[in-house]
Amino acid sequence: MKEVNQQTLTGERALFQGHDLHITNSIFVDGESPLKHGKNLAIDHTIFKYKYPLWYTDHTQLDHTTWQPDAHAGAWYAKDMTMAHSMIRATKTFRHAQNLHLDDVTFADAGETLWWCDDLHLDNVTATGDYFGMNSTNVVVNNLKVNGNYAFDGSKNVEVHNSTFITHDAFWNCDNVTIYDSTIIGEYLAWNTKNITFVNCWLESEQGLCYVDHLTMRNCSLVNTNLSFEYCSNIDATINTTIDSVKNPINGSISAPAIGDIIFDDPPSIGARPLLPPRRPPMSNNFSEMIDRRHTNSVKWDVADNELPMWVADMDFRTAPGIVAAIQKKAATGIFGYEEVPQAYFDAVQHWLTTEHNWTPQTDWMRFVTGVVPAISSAVRRVSHVGDNVLVQAPVYNIFYNSIVNNGRHVLSSDLHYANGQYSIDWNDLAAKMADPLTSMMILCNPHNPVGKIWTPDELRRIGELAATNHVTVFSDEIHGDITTPGKGYTPFAAASDTCAAVSITAVSPSKTFNVAALHAATLIIPDEHRRNVVDRGINTDELAEPNAFAIDGSIAAYTTGADWVHDLNRQITANRQAVTKFVQQNLPKLHVIAGDATYLVWIDCRDVTTDTQALCQVIRQTTGLFITAGAVYGGNGHDFIRINVACPAERLADGLDRLKRGLQAFRQQNN
Ligand SMILES: Cc1ncc(COP(=O)(O)O)c(C=O)c1O
Repeated sequence: MKEVNQQTLTGERALFQGHDLHITNSIFVDGESPLKHGKNLAIDHTIFKYKYPLWYTDHTQLDHTTWQPDAHAGAWYAKDMTMAHSMIRATKTFRHAQNLHLDDVTFADAGETLWWCDDLHLDNVTATGDYFGMNSTNVVVNNLKVNGNYAFDGSKNVEVHNSTFITHDAFWNCDNVTIYDSTIIGEYLAWNTKNITFVNCWLESEQGLCYVDHLTMRNCSLVNTNLSFEYCSNIDATINTTIDSVKNPINGSISAPAIGDIIFDDPPSIGARPLLPPRRPPMSNNFSEMIDRRHTNSVKWDVADNELPMWVADMDFRTAPGIVAAIQKKAATGIFGYEEVPQAYFDAVQHWLTTEHNWTPQTDWMRFVTGVVPAISSAVRRVSHVGDNVLVQAPVYNIFYNSIVNNGRHVLSSDLHYANGQYSIDWNDLAAKMADPLTSMMILCNPHNPVGKIWTPDELRRIGELAATNHVTVFSDEIHGDITTPGKGYTPFAAASDTCAAVSITAVSPSKTFNVAALHAATLIIPDEHRRNVVDRGINTDELAEPNAFAIDGSIAAYTTGADWVHDLNRQITANRQAVTKFVQQNLPKLHVIAGDATYLVWIDCRDVTTDTQALCQVIRQTTGLFITAGAVYGGNGHDFIRINVACPAERLADGLDRLKRGLQAFRQQNN
């Protein structure tokens, strides 16, 4: 083996395809993917400080390694790896790993770690963070300590010994789990799981163990657990403590020294599984229904019978039930006269931003508007003058260009810099363009459509400083802000600093989040009084300030009852994004999916196939019926890209991906 001893390794792919290496006492500092495609590696007493160090490695032994927070997504697609006595401070460390053994490993920030892994052995592991172990298979665990929610969601064939979980919604949607001698604390344990067995376990779980099929419990303590066993079938439970209450079990036997309440309040559903759980519906019930939207006046679905639209930002999911109920209630009044916007609307917006995004803007900074795009156009007319520059960051949502050009202003783009499959801001260029005396306004897409990027607080602060220095108003379009990978929230521009707040006009809306675009409801938030008055005049003279009959009740319902629905939606979208990435890696190696944590729009680099994706999209549509967006409309380097909307059931996504593959084959044949 070749020795790499006491080295400081920098730069991208520093030891790319390195093999038969013994790396010791070393530090991987700042380049991405230093050991990508490595083979037969023995690494000890080494620090990883930067992204993706061990992707696609084969046969790796790690001992006494330390992974700093920036070394995130560290070991994806690793095969045959052992790791011992290590400390990982980065998120998302293992994905799609195969044959992975961890012993004495601490995950200090375990968010989204160990997803889709197979043949996984965990001994003496400690993990703090949400979504640990999702969708993994063939897992054997001994002495694991997890502090974080949603552990092992969707996993299969899991055996756990002597472990402790402090987690709500643990072991949801699993199949074939056995847990021995362990402690699990946290509400809603094991919902929607099939074949789960607990032996000598101590459980505390409000509304735990519901919707389980084949639930076996041997010598378990079940304390402080109300409304348990709801709609469980094939129960075989021996509990050695008093159970507080049992609700509507379907069949089987439960034995305990005493049961506080036995509630049977749902006679029609006894003996049959109900369609929807009452509290938190399982993801599959909401997001797998194949809804036929043809002939419903849907812009997206106004396509030929054989066509599959995955273009415009409109989801194929039915919206959150609270919104439907509020609209039905309003419709039932039968009176739809002129409406004003009540304080309750602004309170609901404020509540949402506080609870979801940790930002509490004052309600008197807010104005109701009938859409984000009309508000952008109106603000362009009021904030800038004819002939001024309005700054954007191409490639970007194409309608920004219309709002600028249709009002006689110039588009000035500080194109995003694209390198190594990632976009970043070219700060020198942005500073120069902000400083242009004709630049009076910037339209920021936060998070960014189409590249799916969440701007960091530092980036936002830097934009705010440049804007303040150059007297530029920043219109921050945050319509996609709610749709982010779980655990990866976005930062509202105005929340990044007081300077940002002072130069900002922010737009938020339930429209993308809940798929209610035709509700025509959005909110502008403008902390600075002068800017607020200027924009206020605009939205009134442009007649954008009056809601339709359903906008207020629908929005209030969204913001006050829709949080769980959105969190589940985000899990589905994240899974769909991953599915696209995996499919493309396995089937279309010439394409490159841009990693993104926001929006349900996936941006794919097709440079190695063509630089005219307009032609590519045409061939794909003609030959397979798949209708996706060619990236040129977004400007910048968009002509090399396609954008695919993945907000649809997994079944429809699979159809879309199959068509994409066939369409690319047809394109290649036609261009050979
Ligand atoms: C960034 C962005 N802003 C605004 C909109 C549309 O907003 P509205 O329908 O409220 O006009 C979209 C729709 O795709 C979008 O992606």
